[in-house]
Amino acid sequence: MLTVGIDIGTSAVKLVAVDEKGKVLRTVSREYPLYMYDDGRSEQAPEDWWNQTADGLRELCNGLGEIAAVSFSGQMHGLVMLDENDNVLRRAILWNDQRTQAQCDYLNNTIGREVLLANAANIALTGFTAPKILWVKEHEPEIFAKAKKIMLPKDYIAYKLSGVFATDYSDASGMLLLDVKNQDWSNKMLEIVGVTREQLPKLFQSYEAVGNVTADAAKETGLSANAKVVIGGGDQAVGAVGSGIVSEGMCSVSLGTSGVLFVAADNFAVDTSPAAIHAFCHSTGRYHFMGVTLAAAGSNKWWIEEILNTTDHPAEQKNIDKIGTNPVYFLPYLSGERTPHNDSMARGAFVGMNMTTTRADMTQAVLEGVSFSLRDILTRVRDLGANVTTARIIGGGAKSPLWCQMIADILRLKVEKMQSEEGPAFGAAILAMVGAGAYKNVEEACAALITITETYTPNEATSTNYDKRYPIYVNLYSALKDSFHAIAKQ
Ligand code: XUL
Repeated sequence: MLTVGIDIGTSAVKLVAVDEKGKVLRTVSREYPLYMYDDGRSEQAPEDWWNQTADGLRELCNGLGEIAAVSFSGQMHGLVMLDENDNVLRRAILWNDQRTQAQCDYLNNTIGREVLLANAANIALTGFTAPKILWVKEHEPEIFAKAKKIMLPKDYIAYKLSGVFATDYSDASGMLLLDVKNQDWSNKMLEIVGVTREQLPKLFQSYEAVGNVTADAAKETGLSANAKVVIGGGDQAVGAVGSGIVSEGMCSVSLGTSGVLFVAADNFAVDTSPAAIHAFCHSTGRYHFMGVTLAAAGSNKWWIEEILNTTDHPAEQKNIDKIGTNPVYFLPYLSGERTPHNDSMARGAFVGMNMTTTRADMTQAVLEGVSFSLRDILTRVRDLGANVTTARIIGGGAKSPLWCQMIADILRLKVEKMQSEEGPAFGAAILAMVGAGAYKNVEEACAALITITETYTPNEATSTNYDKRYPIYVNLYSALKDSFHAIAKQ
């Protein structure tokens, strides 16, 4: 059986064709424009997503044989609105758009965080969809009045392929309209935002088929009209499927530009602390928690490439010789910070240098600072009751064996690296296989398809040293917060 995973990313759509043994047969990628403006707006044209997906599918499917099912991973939170004739009403407002601070303040302060946490399990963040809907309602009332269908990026592509207006629980969790615990639209949130159930897609599990590819879409894409359309999920949840993070006790650590700690959980919980760990539905049918540190491999890239003016990362890491004993600390808040501080005015800092400090000590401090910030997230997630023992590591930073071992030591987790690096697109292909009946469920598919190639276990003596240093790292943010804010306001 062949399936296709479609990852609707922010810079490109990535398509992957996979057989039922998990062998990647072909990958294709197509870019599309991203419209970003100085005032924080970030938009894309849904028609570009569709045109490039259809074009990419034609190349992917050419000569490959019958595709049984397709599924999706989508950039989350983006607002897509269609009129009564299914025309796109305006460019999609994306996950990284920052225009909605006033709407978030209204939701968090006037409606109140308690109401949001009780009804949607999360507080309002500028990226989420509900504040974007409020923004359109306020600033573009003529567009809002015409909006007959409101959906997320991957749902638009699923709609174009199948004609079925559908979404899944994992992606819907990031709209701030879903009652995450009970897996249904929240009447209270719909009332607060002023939208109706009729305007919203029908909800499915990520691994469920919502329909088949239509005759028109088959002609446009090269897919067969019998291919099943499996709805898929948000890129974080589907990326976790691609890494096998599907059962309680497992987490993924992503060392991309930003860093994400994603935990699969059997039981629902809400983070009422200011850290605001995201509590979302997972693509397995259960739940997940997630925290984000905004500059992870991004901090390292900045330090090595911008400041040290080299691209030879291994050479810079070769002289690191104070594992567990480095007196230098680095706060990785170069882009402000999301979890746990939710503070856009936080800033980066090196602390603790003396006349003997070396270049390697500072490189080490950067890697450690990012690892400590991931430990911050893990600590909050554990407070929610998640029992985490193993992490699978992904993203560019995972190329460094030294950093992988450091994550194991600082987080006190067994760290595993996988064979497949396809991430969310591969996860989508796995969901397509489950939807097409090749596997009983997502867990069974992941157990069969994901291969571990390297394992790092915590070194007890090093972990103990890091345990002593972590509280010093934690205190630095409180000590410097006022200065960060004063600097940001200068
Ligand atoms: C998740 C998030 C990003 C986007 C874009 O909350 O904002 O992962 O989905 O990739």
